[in-house]
Amino acid sequence: VLISDQVVAPLHGRPLVDRLGARGIPTELLTFPAGETHKTRPTKDALEDGLLRLGAGRDAAIVAVGGGVTGDLAGFVAATWHRGIPIVQVPTSLLAMVDAALGGKTAVNLSQGKNLVGAFHQPCAVYADVRVLATLPDRELRQGLAELVKSAVIADAQLFRWLERSVPALLDRDESALEHAIAGCLRIKGRVVARDAHDRGRRAVLNFGHTVAHALEVASGYALPHGTAVSIGMCIEAELAVEATGFPRPQVRRLERLLQRCGLETHVPAHLSREEIVCATRRDKKTRVGRARYAVPRSLGRMLPGAEVTVEVSEDDLRRALGGPG
Ligand SMILES: NC(=O)c1ccc[n+]([C@@H]2O[C@H](COP(=O)([O-])OP(=O)(O)OC[C@H]3O[C@@H](n4cnc5c(N)ncnc54)[C@H](O)[C@@H]3O)[C@@H](O)[C@H]2O)c1
Repeated sequence: VLISDQVVAPLHGRPLVDRLGARGIPTELLTFPAGETHKTRPTKDALEDGLLRLGAGRDAAIVAVGGGVTGDLAGFVAATWHRGIPIVQVPTSLLAMVDAALGGKTAVNLSQGKNLVGAFHQPCAVYADVRVLATLPDRELRQGLAELVKSAVIADAQLFRWLERSVPALLDRDESALEHAIAGCLRIKGRVVARDAHDRGRRAVLNFGHTVAHALEVASGYALPHGTAVSIGMCIEAELAVEATGFPRPQVRRLERLLQRCGLETHVPAHLSREEIVCATRRDKKTRVGRARYAVPRSLGRMLPGAEVTVEVSEDDLRRALGGPG
């Protein structure tokens, strides 16, 4: 059963259903409305009703064709359908190719918080074909660049320097540049996930920028796209890292400049309530005994060593870093 959102289904979902059918693999298509606001329990219910209608049993497999929303949703459906059936991830957005499709995290959002209900369910395969990015809107391409920059910051100073040189080629959708970038990110994520699949220690390094990003998404009612939120989140958390880990201030500026050249925002939008953002960080999954924790770098390409990669930051320090109106 192939699952796609209603934007990707006609572009890449339906053609793949037809190709699989032509190869003698009976395949059905289930769709849902596109967008983060549909990564919810009701959408999961509707997809499960679809599986029931199709009579999908334990011998079924799910193929997720789409962006990170599709991968997270379809992955969660696969994780719980008949207590778990196989999932193949076919990411079609840059963000899903460099990040979401790999690693086995699946979830839906609640209005109170991102990804609050979910499961670990590793895909049996991930197929990323850069040619499908031809139909991806520019705005979505930029969203993926945010996670690409994150991968470089947490693990690879050389990749960061390569990005500084290669932003124009990536924005031009140069296929060899895209392949180089995607492969680099997948190597980084694969290495981290292989050592800590269930996110009990070092996997938290992948969360750089995400404590603030998830809070921004919640405070904006999911109106702020994930990549944009990660871009702003990285700038705020890099600022926090100056105090917390000695992250060099000139590198904060370098990070901001690279994100801006990618066409990404680096400041918290004025209309978002700072207090709501601070409040939303309390529900972050890294929170311990009520205190938010942040996975922040020591320098470009390096996180804290060892299993404890997060630091505690006070809410007053966060308020200062968020800046802007109250
Ligand atoms: N599981 C993980 O480890 C992980 C990691 C990072 C992000 N995520 C999740 O991923 C989600 C964000 O992913 P996203 O940015 O891909 O969002 P998305 O799935 O909503 O895709 C963005 C938009 O692009 C469209 N689209 C996708 N591919 C297309 C193509 N080839 N041509 C035309 N349109 C296309 C979609 O229809 C959608 O409208 C968030 O929910 C985030 O939490 C998960």
